[in-house]
Parts: sequence; structure tokens; C-alpha cells
Amino acid sequence: MAFPENFLFGSATSAHQIEGGNINSDWYAWEQIPGHIRGGSTSLIACDSWNKYNEDIKLLLNTNQNAYRMSIEWAKIEPEEGMFNKKAINHCRKQFELLKKNNIKIMVTLFHFTLPQWVAKKDGFASKDNIKYFVRFCQKMAEEYKGSIDFWATLNEPNVYVQKGYIEGSWCPGEKNKIKALKSWSNFIKAHNLVYNAIKSVSPQTPIGPVVSTMVFKPYKNNILDRSLCYLARLFFYNAMLKRMAKKSDFIGLNYYLKTTLQAKNPIVVKDNSVQNDYGWHVHPEGIYETIEECTKWGKPIYITENGLADAKDRLRPQFLKDTFDWLQKAIADNLPIKGYFHWSLLDNFEWASGYTMKFGLHTIDRKPRPSAQIYAELIKKSSGN
Ligand code: FCB
Repeated sequence: MAFPENFLFGSATSAHQIEGGNINSDWYAWEQIPGHIRGGSTSLIACDSWNKYNEDIKLLLNTNQNAYRMSIEWAKIEPEEGMFNKKAINHCRKQFELLKKNNIKIMVTLFHFTLPQWVAKKDGFASKDNIKYFVRFCQKMAEEYKGSIDFWATLNEPNVYVQKGYIEGSWCPGEKNKIKALKSWSNFIKAHNLVYNAIKSVSPQTPIGPVVSTMVFKPYKNNILDRSLCYLARLFFYNAMLKRMAKKSDFIGLNYYLKTTLQAKNPIVVKDNSVQNDYGWHVHPEGIYETIEECTKWGKPIYITENGLADAKDRLRPQFLKDTFDWLQKAIADNLPIKGYFHWSLLDNFEWASGYTMKFGLHTIDRKPRPSAQIYAELIKKSSGN
């Protein structure tokens, strides 16, 4: 298989979804309200990765992965305004050291959906005044971990956050407020661009980029109306944001999960008969190629920072992984600027409003491998020419 020597093969997680104990975050408070999380579960224990991160690293090593995308929970580091928790900072440092010792490249996300409660009380990203707190936190992290982090990802899926948190109101902060949606959309862009400058002033060599959620939008009929609708969907969902962040980015992180078929009449979203995962998302591995191709126009190296499927029984994942590798290979052969792939997720975890019901892991929550874990390991081995 023709993958470049330094291609990253990894998996992705986020602190809130695996660590446990993130009780000072706004999401944790949100989880306590009945009806918010399916099954009434919370992230209190999750995978207990705060205590068991060495076991997570073993899972990476057992499956030949050479990269890990994880996040730092702001609420754990700065639980009160201006009070940075030294113990938590040192705890994360130990994890980075262990990853480094094992030659695993580290991508750290600085915002993965959760905020300290004190920031949320001041209206989170809906308020421009809070950007400075986020920049301060990010700069502090860059200073603390200088030389240890291989990639900084500023924001995870700000586009999804705006949609779920401020339009649908189905995720924390749970508002249906179009004005706040617009404000947070633009504040995220400002925050990204400012964080870029702040981290560059500390670590000029470390690549920094945003992570956005993408989707393949397919026209139901190959006519101008349906095609234009898909163009607009891509524009509003992620391209408009990327356009405003690309200049201050050394790479672009793309999370790709699904395909949506659209038509320019009601109902706009057309149900097609392609395979669906446990979430009901249309599984479409070839879309990874289209997504990379679409975002090549931003002129930056691309990482697939998340890709995977909810599949408790592992009935689709093995073939999905094989197909995905074929499409990645084609992207490389066609000279698209793809530099790495992170599977979501290393292990089952707290899947936001779905609680523990959606299982995205190569491993279960008690760290038992699904058959896919072995398949991923073999694909990586072949692809690295070993
Ligand atoms: C993405 C999120 C990630 C996880 C996957 C399934 O939107 O970034 O935290 O929930 O979906």
C-alpha cells in the first residue's frame, strides 16, 4: 500500500467523553438535568481514562497506531477564573510524556464542546468578551507543554456546536437562539485566529489548525437545483467557516461521518436506502475522498481528525475500515494533501446526549478489542510497509 512514511494512523477521543470527573464543566451540570442524556447517564466515570490513560496508550500500541488525538478539558485546568490547577496540568504532562516515550504523535484539541462553568455563566462563546479567557487558557497550555505537543487543534466542530447548542438546543448550552448562534459562529472564528497567534508566539514550529465537521451532500437528482442546494449546504455547514480560518491554519482537520441526500423541494433531506449505522447515519466510506478533495482548495495539509461509526455489534466497521483505507490510498495516489487519519474512537465512551448507547469504539468501554481493532492494526501494518 502506498502510504507516505510519516503518514499518521491514529484514533481520537475527547477528555469529557473518556476521562471522568470533569465536574466543573458546563456539560457535567447539563447532564444532571433529567431528559438531557439518554438513559439518564452522566460522564462522571466515563472510561476513567484520567486514571487509566496508560491502558489507553497500550491499546494504541497493541493496534500499531502512531498518533493520538485527545483533548484537554479547560474546566479541569482552570476550574475557577484565573485559578490554574497545577496538579491537573502535571497529570496531563505525564500522559504526554508517556505518549512521547512510545513514539506516538500527539494532537491536542483545546475546545471539544465543554466549557468551565464560570465561562458558561458569562454566556460562553456567544459572548465576544469571553474569547480572551479562551486565548489565555490556550497560550498557557502552549507554554506548559512546549515541545511535547505535535499538533494543536484549536476548536472541535464549532459548526456542530452552533447547530446543536444554539439552534436545535439539544446539546449544552441548550438554547434555541438564532442571534446567539450567529454570534458564537463568528466568535469561534475570532477565537481560532487569535489562538493561532498566541500559540505561534510560544511555539512557532508547532502546526495549529481547526477541526470542522464535514458531510457529503449528494444531489438527489443530477440537476442544477439539487446540485446548487448541495453547494450551499457545504458552504453554510463548513466552507464559510474554513474560508475565515484557513489563513491562520497550518493544517485543516476534517471530521467525516456521513452522507446526506438533498433535493430542492420538500422534504429537502431524502432518505435513501444506503446502509445505516446504529445512529441511523448513512455509511458512505467513499465520501472521505470527496471530503478531502473538496477541502483541498484551502491550500493546507489535511488530517481526517475523526471518522467512524456507531456499531455496537461491529457488523459494518471491519469492511468500513478496509474501504476507508482504499479511498485514502486513492487520495494519496491522486496527490491530495492528506497527511493522517484518526479513527473515532479508540474505545466506547460518553457519546454526549446519547450517553453510553452509541458505541463508536475499536474497543469496548472496558477496553476489550472488537474484531475491528485487529483489522485496523493489520491495515496499519500493511500500509506502513512492515
Ligand atoms: C463528533 C464529535 C465527537 C463524537 C463523534 C461521534 O461530532 O466531535 O466528540 O461525538 O461525533
